[in-house]
Amino acid sequence: MNVKESIHITDVAPRDGLQNQAIHLCTADKLRLIELLVDAGLRSVEAASFVSPRAVPQMADAAELVPQVQARFPTLRTSVLVPNLKGLERAHAAGAKEIAVVLSASETMNRKNINMGLDQATEVSEQTLAAARALGLRTRAYVAVAFDCPFEGATPLDELLRLSARMHAAAADEIVIADTIGSASPGQVKERFAALRDVLPMERIAVHLHDTRGMGVANAWAALEAGVRRFDASVGGIGGCPFAPGAAGNVATEDLVLMAERSGFATGIALPGLLAAVDFAQEQLRRPLGGRAITWLRRQRDQDLQNT
Ligand code: COA
Ligand code: ZN
Repeated sequence: MNVKESIHITDVAPRDGLQNQAIHLCTADKLRLIELLVDAGLRSVEAASFVSPRAVPQMADAAELVPQVQARFPTLRTSVLVPNLKGLERAHAAGAKEIAVVLSASETMNRKNINMGLDQATEVSEQTLAAARALGLRTRAYVAVAFDCPFEGATPLDELLRLSARMHAAAADEIVIADTIGSASPGQVKERFAALRDVLPMERIAVHLHDTRGMGVANAWAALEAGVRRFDASVGGIGGCPFAPGAAGNVATEDLVLMAERSGFATGIALPGLLAAVDFAQEQLRRPLGGRAITWLRRQRDQDLQNT
């Protein structure tokens, strides 16, 4: 019997998806969204960020949400984004077990996002990772604008490799290569991950893609072929960084699951469950949501329902 190879998906909709929405979800509705994701089979979510509530008011309830998520779903990997030691302190006080730091691969993006230059952002990320490890937390390190910066243009490959290696040396459990503005194309993904493989162990690498130019799934396939097995995605394709102009939503979890399962990989995630989460997010955010395959997926669900 052929055993399928698995990929691991972290749904970042509760953080990346909601941080930029005009409508702010209340804590109970965020919890419901996460419950639907767990019901669909997700084993890992990014639930919130511990950032300045002035910078991102949508995440102001992180300290209320995180303990509720962990109490309700004790086996779910619940990660939270923390930009600095203050964020780590707040996350730890709320009982978080996994954190993610965010280092952008350009001077200007770091300044716009976290009000630090590149060198300071690198040092603060290293300090935060070390402090998190000392607290026994699992850690992720985003290397953002890994392909292009909305302010400085193309990110030099050497810079991406240098910063990724720094995050690896700082013992991040996962280094998340992020196409923050969704500008990558499959050829570049292939090239960059081949180079990253030389400086990082493949099993530590994750990829975080946005679908701004309709290439999210193609880029995910290029990453799969390059050996990446950890993916971020956002149910319904919601998302985008408020500090990176032009960034559209993340690659939709339902698109990624469809592509991976059809290509022979196991995800452990059920599409009907994901569609229930898309429907819920759509009701809450009061606008149509869903990835590239949403029309077909819904039609398929309706047909399956008729046949049962
Ligand atoms: N959580 C909550 N409050 C924080 C904080 C955190 N992680 N870090 C700093 N603060 C507070 C400080 O206590 C201070 O509060 P006060 O004015 O009431 O005394 C205030 O924010 C300013 O602190 P300072 O260290 O000068 O921060 P800053 O103004 O340079 O902002 C960040 C730095 C990182 C806090 C801010 O840029 C931020 O939250 N960015 C959000 C990034 C983000 O979420 N991007 C999208 C995802 S990648
Ligand atoms: Zn993102």
